[in-house]
Formats: sequence, C-alpha cells, structure tokens
Amino acid sequence: MWLEVFTTFLSFATGACSGLKVTVPSHTVHGVRGQALYLPVHYGFHTPASDIQIIWLFERPHTMPKYLLGSVNKSVVPDLEYQHKFTMMPPNASLLINPLQFPDEGNYIVKVNIQGNGTVSASQKIQVTVDDPVTKPVVQIHPPSGAVEYVGNMTLTCQVEGGTRLAYQWLKNGRPVHTSSTYSFSPQNNTLHIAPVTKEDIGNYSCLVRNPVSEMESDIIMPIIYYGPYGLQVNSDKGLKVGEVFTVDLGEAILFDCSADSYPPNTYSWIRRTDNTTYIIKHGPRLEVASEKVAQKTMDYVCCAYNNITGRQDETHFTVIITSVGLEKLAQKGKSLSPLASITGISLFLIISMCLLFLWKKYQPYKGQKQNTGKLKHFQAMKMLWMTSEYMNLLLFQMLLVFPGSQAGLFQPLIVYQGKICTVQYMKLFSTSLPSSKTIQSELSRANRYIRVKF
Ligand SMILES: *[C@@H]1O[C@H](CO)[C@@H](O)[C@H](O)[C@H]1NC(C)=O
Ligand SMILES: *[C@@H]1O[C@H](CO)[C@@H](O)[C@H](O)[C@H]1NC(C)=O
Ligand SMILES: *[C@@H]1O[C@H](CO)[C@@H](O)[C@H](O)[C@H]1NC(C)=O
Ligand SMILES: *[C@@H]1O[C@H](CO)[C@@H](O)[C@H](O)[C@H]1NC(C)=O
Ligand SMILES: *[C@@H]1O[C@H](CO)[C@@H](O)[C@H](O)[C@H]1NC(C)=O
Ligand SMILES: *[C@@H]1O[C@H](CO)[C@@H](O)[C@H](O)[C@H]1NC(C)=O
Ligand SMILES: *[C@@H]1O[C@H](CO)[C@@H](O)[C@H](O)[C@H]1NC(C)=O
Ligand SMILES: *[C@@H]1O[C@H](CO)[C@@H](O)[C@H](O)[C@H]1NC(C)=O
Repeated sequence: MWLEVFTTFLSFATGACSGLKVTVPSHTVHGVRGQALYLPVHYGFHTPASDIQIIWLFERPHTMPKYLLGSVNKSVVPDLEYQHKFTMMPPNASLLINPLQFPDEGNYIVKVNIQGNGTVSASQKIQVTVDDPVTKPVVQIHPPSGAVEYVGNMTLTCQVEGGTRLAYQWLKNGRPVHTSSTYSFSPQNNTLHIAPVTKEDIGNYSCLVRNPVSEMESDIIMPIIYYGPYGLQVNSDKGLKVGEVFTVDLGEAILFDCSADSYPPNTYSWIRRTDNTTYIIKHGPRLEVASEKVAQKTMDYVCCAYNNITGRQDETHFTVIITSVGLEKLAQKGKSLSPLASITGISLFLIISMCLLFLWKKYQPYKGQKQNTGKLKHFQAMKMLWMTSEYMNLLLFQMLLVFPGSQAGLFQPLIVYQGKICTVQYMKLFSTSLPSSKTIQSELSRANRYIRVKF
C-alpha cells in the first residue's frame, strides 16, 4: 500500500499521470575535460500534443539555475553566450556538451513541456563531473639502496603527474595493503611507510591511482630488504644422516652443502673442531671430505653462515663418522629387529651359558689327573670362552641397533644415539681374538679376573 502511494506521488511529480515520462539512464555522468560529453534523455507521452518544448538549465551549488538552450517542436533557441558549446537535435532531448571544461561541472536540468489538451511538464536532473584522466604513477622508494630488517624503515611514494580527484591505493602482490603495526599511510594514501621492515615485506608493490574517469597502476617495485641468515642446514650427497651426524663408508668422498636463507647471499666458512682448537678449513658453500685421507674416524665440523650486510651469523655443528662397514644396510636390518626379540635372545643366552658354566664346574676333574686331559680341558674352556665372547659382541651390537635412530660402530666402540656420540667401553671386555698358544694363558687369566672362572 505504501509502495502504491509512493508510486502515485512519483508519477505525479514526473507528470506521468498525464502520460508524460522523462527518464535519464544515469543521474551522474563523469566527463573528461576537453572531450565531448553526451547526456542522454528519453521521454514519452500519451496525450495528443501540439507543441513540444524542451529546456536545458544549468546550476552550480548555491547559485541560481541558468538557461542554456531550449526548443519548440524542431527549432532550437540557444542562449547566445553558450551557442557553440551545447547542441540539441529536437525532438531528441539529449544534450551534447563539446568541449567539456572544468566550469561545466554541476547539475543539468532538463524540462519537457507538452501542450495539447492543457499543458503537462516533467523534468530530470543530471550531475556532471569533469576530470583529467590519471597519468601513469611512478613509485619512488626511500632508501633506494634497501634497508636491513628490524633496523631500517622504508617509504614508498606514489607520484602522478596528471589527473584530478586522485585516490591512491597500494597493492602488494596484487592485493590491497592495509594499515597494520608496521604499515602506515599518509593522509592522502600516496605514501606507504614501513617501520621497521621485515623479511615478510618483500614482495611486488605497486600503486594504483583512480579517479572517476580512469585508473592507472604503476610498474611493480620490489623493495630491497636485507635479512638472514635463516634456516641454516648442512646436507650431503651421500652418507647416512642422523640428527646432525653423517655416517659414511670408508673410501667415499663426501660433498657437504651448507645453505641458509638470506639476502644478500651469505658467505660460508667451514670450521674443523678438535678438542682444544678450531680452525677455518674452507670458505664457500661446499666442502668435500675425502674419507681415505682423514686420520680420525670421527670429526667435528661447523658450518658458519655470515651475512655481511645484516651483520648476523648462524652456525651449525655436525659430526662425520667414517665406518668400514656398509652401516646403512646393517642399520636398516637392525631396525627391523624387535627389541623384545633381542631381549629374549640375550636372556636365553645368559641362561644357557650359566648352565654350561655350572655343568663344566661340576664335572671339573679332580687334581692329579693326566696332563693330556688337563690340556684338553684348557682348550675346551678357551673354545667356549671365545665363542661366548663372539656371541656376546654380536648380541650387544644388535641390541644397540634396535634403539630407534641409533647406530653402532662394529669395529670401534661408538654408539650414536639421538645425535650424540657415546663411547662404549665395556665392549672390550669380550675379546674377539682367536686363541693361540700364547693368548690362551692371557685369556685364561683375564677370564679368571673378569668372569671368575677357575681352572
Ligand atoms: C508544432 O507542431 C505541431 C504539429 O506537429 C503544430 O501544430 C504546431 O503549430 C507546431 N508549433 C510551432 C510553434 O511550430
Ligand atoms: C538522440 O540522438 C542520439 C544521437 O545524437 C541518438 O544516439 C539517440 O538514440 C537519440 N535519442 C532518441 C530518443 O531518439
Ligand atoms: C480535454 O480535457 C477535457 C477535460 O480535462 C476532456 O473532457 C477532453 O475530452 C479532453 N480532450 C481530448 C481531445 O483529450
Ligand atoms: C624507523 O621508524 C621508527 C618509528 O617510526 C623510528 O623510531 C626509528 O628511528 C626509525 N628508524 C630509522 C632507521 O629511521
Ligand atoms: C613478483 O614479480 C616477479 C616478476 O616481476 C615474479 O617472478 C614473482 O613471482 C612475483 N612475486 C610474487 C610474490 O608475486
Ligand atoms: C586510504 O586508504 C584506506 C584503506 O587502505 C581508506 O580507508 C582511506 O579512505 C584512504 N584515504 C584516502 C584519503 O583515500
Ligand atoms: C689440549 O689441551 C691440553 C691441556 O689443556 C693439552 O694437554 C693437549 O695436548 C691439547 N691437545 C691438543 C690436540 O692440542
Ligand atoms: C659482502 O660479501 C660479498 C660477497 O658475498 C661482497 O661482494 C661484498 O663486497 C661484501 N660487502 C661488504 C659490505 O663487505
């Protein structure tokens, strides 16, 4: 119901109750200075008409409307002052303004009067703005040489030579930049201030300038931001890597690659560490270690990355272990063994050896028997000891392998467990040498001392 009332009121206001209707496609038209501007108007009526009168008026805010031109039927009566500027082709009510200038900005009112059985009239208003198109903006960056992250600030200024009613917008990687803890804008938005800069501010910046008649985007600019080093790491082309430990087979040459994210690129140096001293062995991102040349089996290295602009550095320590076994395969096998199986194995072994020891001790011959029997017993005892030691070594080795991420050196008493190297002293307890006539005596005394076997 309210809608009906409103429609009726509107129809009355535009004269539609008498069949006259004046329409304009847009109530706001943006024109470019120096060019022609066309203001389209449509009207229609149903009453019989003798005279059709069209009048164009112009008004600026707070001024009286002034007459531009008018027509009756097909004859135009221009205001002589503006006759070269405004054109109308009645009964077509549309107005052409040519050329458009800044003073032409304002409201244009078109009034249509139809005289027939009485007079009906209707009018419309069009707001016209006049602008110069935007020229391509240029972004200047200060400081142009770049800034160090967390230390330096940066200001991006957008400059435009031509254009009116400019609205500035900053884009980073094609998306609008918003005010944040580090980003701030000038009142017109034509400068973007970043304080302080961070690595995250690296990107493709551009300035987009708009006005009602055009928009232009600057070329992309990439601010120089010095950062890093971040995420330092060492990788090798070969070798088994566990934490910061590289295990490599003897005879292989290993190439280590040190890398960290930074701008400008880091300078890398490699440092060798011994117990007391450290010394630089090489500069550059790559280090080659020829394992046959190294004297020690375990070596500590440091890769140091230095950014000479930010003045920051980072270093990472790593260890290289050179083995003579294809440890990679062993470790893989070892890992497939379940810890339960090895524990069961060890327990079983201990029980059997205890039984054997007990049996052997029980049937130990009394003193005073033949010398030959004594020698035989010695040999048998030695044989058993040797087998025991071998078996225990093997078991110990396997046991070390089953710890997740652990490796053991078979020929050197070392365990690598969670990136740390532990020395295994007790492995020496079990000799692996074959008994000879000389070693028998020493082994027997050792056995006497450690396992308390009496002969
Ligand atoms: C306008 O045209 C109508 C017929 O189309 C005519 O009757 C009328 O006299 C004309 N008016 C003028 C002022 O020429
Ligand atoms: C008025 O004239 C213009 C060309 O000057 C034309 O494009 C437009 O369609 C005309 N309008 C009407 C209602 O005839
Ligand atoms: C003119 O208007 C009167 C009343 O307003 C109406 O009676 C008459 O029929 C109209 N004539 C025409 C030709 O429309
Ligand atoms: C960067 O800006 C911050 C805050 O705007 C200011 O405190 C600091 O001094 C500026 N640093 C430089 C190097 O201009
Ligand atoms: C920045 O622009 C360059 C080419 O000008 C392009 O290679 C790079 O991927 C762009 N970076 C982003 C983050 O869009
Ligand atoms: C500046 O940009 C912000 C959005 O980034 C906008 O809200 C604000 O209106 C702009 N100011 C001017 C003067 O254009
Ligand atoms: C390390 O220092 C100790 C004394 O602190 C010294 O006895 C030993 O010889 C040094 N070793 C090396 C390799 O310099
Ligand atoms: C930083 O190191 C580079 C080599 O990576 C070198 O070219 C540059 O001159 C150095 N700059 C300074 C300020 O030392």
